[in-house]
Amino acid sequence: MWRRAGETEDEIIVELCGELNREDPGPHPVAPGQVRRTLDRFRREPWRGQALVLDLEGGIGGYALVTELWSNEMGGPVRVVDELYVAPHLRGRGHGSSLFAELERSSAGSSAPVAALGLEVRPANRRARALYERLGFSGASTVLYRRLARQGSGPEPAAASADHQLPRLYRDLADWFPLLTPPEDYAEEAARYLRLVTDACARPPRTLLDLGCGGGNNASHLKRQLGLTLVDLSPSMLEVSRRLNPECEHLVGDMRTVRLGRTFDAVLLHDAVCFMTTAEDLGRAIETAAVHCAVGGAVLLQPDYLRETFAAGTETGGVDRDGRGLRYLEWWHDPDPDDSTYVVDLAYLLRREDGSTEVVHDRHVLGLFPRATWLELIASAGLEPRLVPVASGPGPGAEVLLGVKSSPRAC
Ligand SMILES: C[S@@+](CC[C@H](N)C(=O)[O-])C[C@H]1O[C@@H](n2cnc3c(N)ncnc32)[C@H](O)[C@@H]1O
Repeated sequence: MWRRAGETEDEIIVELCGELNREDPGPHPVAPGQVRRTLDRFRREPWRGQALVLDLEGGIGGYALVTELWSNEMGGPVRVVDELYVAPHLRGRGHGSSLFAELERSSAGSSAPVAALGLEVRPANRRARALYERLGFSGASTVLYRRLARQGSGPEPAAASADHQLPRLYRDLADWFPLLTPPEDYAEEAARYLRLVTDACARPPRTLLDLGCGGGNNASHLKRQLGLTLVDLSPSMLEVSRRLNPECEHLVGDMRTVRLGRTFDAVLLHDAVCFMTTAEDLGRAIETAAVHCAVGGAVLLQPDYLRETFAAGTETGGVDRDGRGLRYLEWWHDPDPDDSTYVVDLAYLLRREDGSTEVVHDRHVLGLFPRATWLELIASAGLEPRLVPVASGPGPGAEVLLGVKSSPRAC
């Protein structure tokens, strides 16, 4: 059955698109990030197109990307199958034909039926061409493309990715992240998290899900002891982490909604959890962690601040690396103590390889919740809440929260 793809299936489509391009390479290679941007764009602007998956009992067996254009020649809108892939062992069973039948059926039932179905097929792909001709497609013309500069392989346009609401540090400036906060600085805290989850788990943990893994700095240490799955909302940050941790599994996902359909001995929500700015979102992120935590496992949450440990402050830092340099001034303050957020203003001074410099202001709006809220939300996700002070007095990361999953819950 062909159906609309859900967000959790993005990575499956990325994988299948890779297979399509390996099997039938076109003149314009498609990188995984480009597929993710397409899927994200379809979600935010559904009139542009849709992604469909072939949902079979054994799992997802194929995908299609379907877009729409206006054709003067056809006298109206044309639904174009931009990409279609069915896994080799499932071919010859009518799945291609059933896609076109479904597109025709949905057009007939819609208030704006299309005038024609269209598709692209390379002249060399004789097998596919024969199928399409049997289905009534005709025409010898081939669409030719010339890329325009803006659409090249350069930096991803800010609004075109799932992370468009994130600060610039996690979008177009992601590549600078390791110069702001280098992985080697995380050895001590990663060792602390490993100790805390090991103590909290009923048996020594072997797998860990890092929700909001960022540049993979914690992961670069934890991967020595644990099998890691790394999830982040930002494809650009995942690329940074992938370079550092190529042996780990990386997936695009929102910690509030992602569902991977499997459990892990431990789940880490490090400082990325600060991006939950309402109690509702925080509850959803904790629920995600609980759903993915195995019975006998533990969830570790490390917000920068709780309401009780917050104090405004500043910090400077940054390093040089590979001919580039970054220095920053970070200033965190709470303009409205009555709401559940505080603000971090960051000024970055970026020095590029060619010696040119740029100053950038970036604002991060982060969540601030009292201890009681954290503990209640952890308990309502079916976890036993624990609070572990790790520093004396207020300051970033002064307290770690744990949620231990001692019994299965319907979550
Ligand atoms: C400070 S970085 C995390 C750094 C990480 N602790 C490390 O070890 O490198 C914060 C990350 O949170 C991610 N993030 C923010 N909101 C998110 C969400 N809703 N779901 C998943 N990731 C999110 C951002 O994309 C960013 O990569």
